[in-house]
Amino acid sequence: MSGNNTTRRDFLALMSALGLTGVGQSELFAQDQMPSRQIPGTNEWLPIIGLGSSKPVSQIAERGTEHIAEVLRALVANGGSVVDTWPRNPANDASFGRVISEPDLRESLFVASKIDKVGRDAGIQQFRETQRLYQRETLDLVQIFSLTDLDTQWRNLKDWKASGKTRYIGATVANASLYEQLESFLRRDRPDFVQINYSITERGAEERMLPMCQDLGVAVIINRPFMNGAYFRQLGQRPVPEWAAEFDCDSWAQFSLKYILPHPAITCVLTETSNPAHMVENARAAFGRMPDDAERNRMKAVIDKV
Ligand SMILES: NC(=O)c1ccc[n+]([C@@H]2O[C@H](COP(=O)([O-])OP(=O)(O)OC[C@H]3O[C@@H](n4cnc5c(N)ncnc54)[C@H](OP(=O)(O)O)[C@@H]3O)[C@@H](O)[C@H]2O)c1
Repeated sequence: MSGNNTTRRDFLALMSALGLTGVGQSELFAQDQMPSRQIPGTNEWLPIIGLGSSKPVSQIAERGTEHIAEVLRALVANGGSVVDTWPRNPANDASFGRVISEPDLRESLFVASKIDKVGRDAGIQQFRETQRLYQRETLDLVQIFSLTDLDTQWRNLKDWKASGKTRYIGATVANASLYEQLESFLRRDRPDFVQINYSITERGAEERMLPMCQDLGVAVIINRPFMNGAYFRQLGQRPVPEWAAEFDCDSWAQFSLKYILPHPAITCVLTETSNPAHMVENARAAFGRMPDDAERNRMKAVIDKV
């Protein structure tokens, strides 16, 4: 399932092999109404599965842009829109910028980027580069990467929001060691969004962070739903429990996503992939029934034994 050079023909063959919950190939390319969640305090709704693009963007230098374009089109064809990025190097970012500016994608994506620099001027410079390379005057969301130089960059982000250069602002963490600092930031500064790690294998955010975001009315984007791939390596060749079909789940990827998605604090879950077939499989986790509390407990018990 993880070929590195997936062409459209391979993609169709993979779709067929996946046998995704009875969905036919023609429907996979049709616009589909993915369930969405409201950004708290706004009239805007986001589809609940998005793309984490770090890996496919970093692969552009070796592989070109065809794969990332196919992944994005697979996301959009299944009703998704959120793409999370992280500026890396000008050549890859410029190529990525050209892809997200293609006519069929430009208006279909909610583009979230990050600032990972230390210092006011370095942050401003990075944001200007992002605007130029992504060919966008206004970003949908700008986040402070892993709370880096938080106070300085937060002032920058507030300026950019006030001047219309970004519609929303927030910060990311991907590790429980930053939760305490994130908690003080949330109480003090009330960002529009936070991005936080959460999955069936990394459940720490359930204790305080997710309820707190819900109470404060902060939108939540989830990262590391598959622990950057370690989840699949741990599961190996184990079969997905048959009872997972009762909530329309037929793969381990969907098993983790369907555990995450019912949490009421969550606005959108990012899944990182450079494989269009995986993008479709992940997007389809948004559809069908979600597990109830008893089923989620049963899912946890399965994973805790692995
Ligand atoms: N501090 C931060 O701001 C921060 C830190 C970490 C992550 N993030 C964000 O969160 C995103 C996602 O988190 P993550 O990077 O930890 O990745 P992840 O989504 O937890 O895991 C990605 C891995 O899972 C594999 N995969 C994806 N879908 C699959 C499927 N259906 N079947 C089998 N394998 C599958 C991918 O390989 P294939 O390519 O082969 O599908 C990839 O190796 C990142 O891209 C980034 O946007 C932010």
